[in-house]
Amino acid sequence: MATKTKKLFIKTYGCQMNVYDSERMADALAPRDYVVTADMEEADLVLLNTCHIREKASEKVFSELGRLKKLRDRRAGQGKPTMIGVAGCVAQAEGEEIIERAPVVDLVFGPQSYHRLPDLVQRAKNEHVVDTDFPEEDKFDYLPQASKQATIARGLTAFLTVQEGCDKFCSFCVVPYTRGNEASRPVSRIVAEAKALVEAGVREITLLGQNVNAYHGQGLDGADTGLAALLFELAKIEGLDRLRYTTSHPRDMNDALIAAHAALPELMPYLHLPVQSGSDSILKAMNRRHTRAHYLKIIEKIRAARPDIALSGDFIVGFPGETDADFADTLSLVKEVGYASAYSFKYSPRPGTPGASLEGQVEPHIASERLLELQKLINEYQLAFNHSCVGKTMDILLEKTGRKPGQLAGRSPFLQAVHVDADLSLIGQIVSLGIKSAGQNSLYGEQLAKPSGKPDNPRQADQPRQSIRSA
Ligand code: SAH
Ligand code: SF4
Ligand code: F3S
Repeated sequence: MATKTKKLFIKTYGCQMNVYDSERMADALAPRDYVVTADMEEADLVLLNTCHIREKASEKVFSELGRLKKLRDRRAGQGKPTMIGVAGCVAQAEGEEIIERAPVVDLVFGPQSYHRLPDLVQRAKNEHVVDTDFPEEDKFDYLPQASKQATIARGLTAFLTVQEGCDKFCSFCVVPYTRGNEASRPVSRIVAEAKALVEAGVREITLLGQNVNAYHGQGLDGADTGLAALLFELAKIEGLDRLRYTTSHPRDMNDALIAAHAALPELMPYLHLPVQSGSDSILKAMNRRHTRAHYLKIIEKIRAARPDIALSGDFIVGFPGETDADFADTLSLVKEVGYASAYSFKYSPRPGTPGASLEGQVEPHIASERLLELQKLINEYQLAFNHSCVGKTMDILLEKTGRKPGQLAGRSPFLQAVHVDADLSLIGQIVSLGIKSAGQNSLYGEQLAKPSGKPDNPRQADQPRQSIRSA
C-alpha cells in the first residue's frame, strides 16, 4: 500500500549554515514521503531551525511557538494532527528546557543529529524526544543527497557546507558550544555534492563553515587539504562558474588562500572577513587572538592579490569594557579598510560564554548610540562603493524575476543585488551589464552584449575572465 504524502514546513533563522541544514533536513525526510510546503497551515510537521547567536534571535523562537500552539489547536479541530520540532542552535543550547517552556514542542534535536531525523520523527509520535548528542558518526555520511528535482527548485546558486563547528572560542560567542568542535568533510564528498548540484543547473556555489578558511579535509590523495586546494579542485568542475566561501577568521587567512584569489577566475572578488572591533584591548578581551595591525596586514595582502576585491565584515559594539576611545578605533578601522558592506550588532551577553560575566558591561543606551553611528558610517561606505560601480561593466548571474514587471534580478561578482530590464529567457545566464545607477542596496544595469552563458563557457577562453572592467 502506498504511503500517504505528508507536508513539511521548515522555518529557518540565523546563518547560511542553517539554510543549508534546512535543505538537508528536507532531503532526509523526502524518502519518508514528506513534501515541503510554503504554507504552514497545511503542514503535518513544522520544524523551526533556530539561531542562538543573540538573545533576540533566540527569543523569536518562543514567540513563534506561541503562534504554533494556536495553529496546532486549529488543525486539531479539523481532525489533523501536527507535529512540532525545534532544531538548530537553540535546540542544542537549551534541549529539554524548550519543552518545559513550550509543551507544544514534540521534538528537540541539535545540528549534529539531522541524519537521525526520520527515526526521531517516528519516535516523537509516541513521546517527547530530545536529541542533543554530539554523535561519533558524521551526519554527512548518512544524510541523503538532494534529488535533482529538489535542487532545481532551489535555484541557480547553492550553499554547500564543507566545515562545521569552531575551536576559536571568542568570548562573546555561543557557536563553539552549539556546533561543537571543528570538523571538515573530505574533498571527495564535497566534489561529488558540487557535481550533483551543477548537473541540476547550479552555476554558483558558496562553501560554508563557521570557520570555513580553517577547512582541512582529507584530500583526493589522502593528505590533509586546505581551503585553497579545495577551491582549485572545485573550479575544475565544468559548468561551475562561480565560487564563494564564508565565514572566515583572520587568523586562518593563509597565503595559499590569498593566492587563490589572484589565480582562480571562478573565485568571486568578495570576502567576508569579520573583525568585530578596531581596538586592540577589545580584540584581546574578545579572545580574537589577532590585533588590528594583523588584520590590516591581511587586508593589504588580499588587496595586493586581488585589487578589485570587495570587503565585508562583522562588528560588535558595546562589548564589556568598550570605551569611547575603543569605539573610535572601530570607526577609524571602517574608514581605513573602506568596506563595500558590513554587518554590525549590539553586544548580547550569552549564557555560558566568558563575555557574559565580564566587568564593565556597557549601558544599553550607549551601545545603541554607537550602533547607530557605526551603521551610518558603514552605509556611507556601502553607497560610495555602489556608486563607484556606475559606468563599469559587470558579469551578472541572472537568477530570478525582479520586483518590477519586466525586470530580472541577479548578483554581481561583489554580491551586490543587480536589476535589469531583460527577457525571462535570460534567467540562468551570466550576462554582461553596463551599470547605469546605484542605490544603497542595489545596482541597476543595462544589457550590453550577448550572454556569456554555457554555450561559450568563459573558462575555455585563453584569458582569465575579468569580472569588472571600465566601460
Ligand atoms: N563564524 C563567524 C560568525 C559567527 S556569528 C565568524 O567567526 O566570523 C556572526 C556574527 O554575529 C559574528 O561575526 C559577530 O559579529 C556576531 N555575534 C556573535 N556573537 C554575538 C553576541 N554575543 N552579541 C552580538 N553579536 C554577536
Ligand atoms: Fe564564534 Fe569566534 Fe568561532 Fe566565529 S570564530 S564562530 S565568532 S567563536
Ligand atoms: Fe546562529 Fe547557530 Fe548560525 S547560533 S548564526 S544558527 S551557527
